[in-house]
Amino acid sequence: MQVNLNVRRFDPDTNKSWHQEYSLDMPHYAVVLDALIQVREEVDQTLALRCSCRSAICGSCTMRINGHAKLACKIKVVDVAPKGETITVEPLGNMPLVKDLVVDMQPFWDKVMAVQPWLQPAPPEPEREYIVPNDAMLNLAGVMDCIMCGACVSDCTVLEAELKMGKPYEETFLAPAALAKAFRFVGDPRDAAAKERLKHLSESHGIWDCTRCMECVEVCPKGVAPMDRILSLREKAMELGFTDNHGARHSKAFADSVEHSGWLNEFSLLQKSFGLLNIRELLRFIPGGIRMALRRKTPSPIHKPIPKIENLKKIFRRFGKKESTN
Ligand code: FES
Repeated sequence: MQVNLNVRRFDPDTNKSWHQEYSLDMPHYAVVLDALIQVREEVDQTLALRCSCRSAICGSCTMRINGHAKLACKIKVVDVAPKGETITVEPLGNMPLVKDLVVDMQPFWDKVMAVQPWLQPAPPEPEREYIVPNDAMLNLAGVMDCIMCGACVSDCTVLEAELKMGKPYEETFLAPAALAKAFRFVGDPRDAAAKERLKHLSESHGIWDCTRCMECVEVCPKGVAPMDRILSLREKAMELGFTDNHGARHSKAFADSVEHSGWLNEFSLLQKSFGLLNIRELLRFIPGGIRMALRRKTPSPIHKPIPKIENLKKIFRRFGKKESTN
């Protein structure tokens, strides 16, 4: 079958970026990586890309295919271009470019290392192997499928927005892969540092920076669902009392507002999340507020309860008040 590729190229020597088209004849079972390797071997030896296992195990061939991060060795050409449509291939996002489809993964690894991804058992060290009951690890089975491919970090919209604002990597969101890894250790019965870990994760750039866009869940090739792990970490952190931060306060204010009137009261949400006295933080929202007002998007200050609000209150009473982890 005819395969048409539109590959984003980057030359670090000239700092130039451009798109280059290739057309190839490939067998119907070919994956995108097969096509790229054929380009490199038979058409254009200057094309740079990474791959290793070619079996969706090592994660090294992750790149953006038609706009979303995917393992190129897992995506069949026929599935993304059944009628011979052009397939757009680009390097991972949110990471510095090295050349063509190769990116520098160092920021990714720095974020993973920031969550201390190793067991920290309570002293003294056990004299013999600690055999974990199977049941205690079931909750972690899914997250341990992570192959550290970087797809979720590439397509994380929070990280993308922060980098576009010019923030240095070390001042940006920890991002989904590192937080999924943190979940793995927080939930491990052999680890004694869960409280410390959650304290750290509740600070700036941690679990409360996720906006729940679901993109990490969509692109993860292994079904790790990082966003779900982040929400679990939020619940655990709040259970352990780490509530003195804007994320936890926002979550509580969100639940309070819905319980009170059935609506989200955006006016009170802001001041409850940051505190009325946190003038510096509140001032940050003034430009956005002005833009909203100019576009007539400002929410109404009149906050009437929805009809039959009693039914909603009954739900809160029936199930107990558990704060949303929005
Ligand atoms: Fe290893 Fe694709 S080459 S995951």
